[in-house]
Amino acid sequence: MEINAIYEGDNLGIMSKFPDKSVDLIYADPPFFSNKQYEVIWDDKAEIRSFEDRWEGGILHYITWIEPRLRECHRLLKDAGALYLHCDWHASHYLKVELDKIFGRENFRNEISVKRIRKNVHEREKVKSLNTAFDSILFYAKSDKHFITPPMKEEYRPARWHAFDANGIRTGMDYELFGHKPKRGNHWRWTKERAEQAIKEGILRPNPSSGKPEYLIPESDHTIITSVWDDIPAYSFESGYPTEKSPELLERIINMSSKNGDIVLDPFCGCGTAIVASQKLKRNWVGIDISPTACNLMRKRMIHEFRISPQVIRGTVDVNYVKKLEPFEFQNWVVTNKFFGTVSKTKSGDFGIDGLTPQVAGGYPIQVKQSENVGRNVIDNFETAMRRMNKKKGYVVAFSFGRGAVEEAARAKNQEGLEIILRTVNDLIDGKIE
Ligand SMILES: C[S@@+](CC[C@H](N)C(=O)[O-])C[C@H]1O[C@@H](n2cnc3c(N)ncnc32)[C@H](O)[C@@H]1O
Repeated sequence: MEINAIYEGDNLGIMSKFPDKSVDLIYADPPFFSNKQYEVIWDDKAEIRSFEDRWEGGILHYITWIEPRLRECHRLLKDAGALYLHCDWHASHYLKVELDKIFGRENFRNEISVKRIRKNVHEREKVKSLNTAFDSILFYAKSDKHFITPPMKEEYRPARWHAFDANGIRTGMDYELFGHKPKRGNHWRWTKERAEQAIKEGILRPNPSSGKPEYLIPESDHTIITSVWDDIPAYSFESGYPTEKSPELLERIINMSSKNGDIVLDPFCGCGTAIVASQKLKRNWVGIDISPTACNLMRKRMIHEFRISPQVIRGTVDVNYVKKLEPFEFQNWVVTNKFFGTVSKTKSGDFGIDGLTPQVAGGYPIQVKQSENVGRNVIDNFETAMRRMNKKKGYVVAFSFGRGAVEEAARAKNQEGLEIILRTVNDLIDGKIE
């Protein structure tokens, strides 16, 4: 297992190669069983990317799919380790039964409720249930050796009290000294001016809703937070990756169940919230995701936030894997993973081409077609784009090419001096690019 590395591929195969008892903490945020398709617009309006968590075979299909992955998680955890499984109401009860079987009921620690995004409903007469307020995070320890650093609840108490004279008549307001209850008629009281000064000095704070002065009770009196986490957001919208979780959520979990230098694994890493939080909190980490887009995004986030370029370990890819990729994933796989180029943001702005090879390699156009038997018309259109871009060389990638395409590429070379290189997906898998 490479540490501080991103693995691209199905987490089942990848985890199965990792040694027993090698990680301290796992946060797993699998696609939910919610029959929903998330759609997000990335960077520019022309490109809609989607992320599906559709399970046509029903809940049993979902459970059959996830069960071996949860077993791997259990195997990989050290005895003092823990798993946090993020899920929603559709499957949390089924998943809890599975985890009871795998981890043992005695190792269940908490079902943590984290705030969901509230949905607006436009057709009120069609509503059948309330908005669901919470996702669930099922927290299991590998054994009773797992101890947490409990997050403590900071509590504030009002620092403003009624003041009375010797006859018990109310005379106005008094301000309590930091951390001490006011005693009637004693010298602990502050004037209004002093209390205002204390707010400026940060000794008191104005209550966020009422504005009345209040103070933080001493740390020794703080209480451990409950399993309802409504003080932090669960979701974030920073990278635009669908279902992105918030840094606050991941930092709380990592702080709670690991320490400096521990290894944190996220087998469904998405845009990498868990690995970013781990790096920030000085943990080691391993991120896995099946999506090449997600892995590229994670790498970019690590470079952007920490100026480190983590290793991306790509598993063996076969044609069937590539066939199943979403169209934008296919485009990313070809352009970014194989040509190390840049994906076109707007089709129209880039003459309809899908990407460019790196500038050092000529900045040549790349066209990708996720289909078989690509014909002459595709090559014709590509020639037009090449001429408009003033490029003499370019690449077209497809699963296979028809005779017309091969003939047209040969004609363009002989008669017009345009070098159009036709590459099949198998060529790219075999490393045949030029
Ligand atoms: C709910 S999202 C995770 C979001 C993530 N927690 C974040 O903050 O960005 C689920 C992720 O699981 C990935 N995924 C789905 N099936 C997978 C598999 N078999 N192996 C690895 N990753 C998978 C998807 O590509 C997706 O990025």
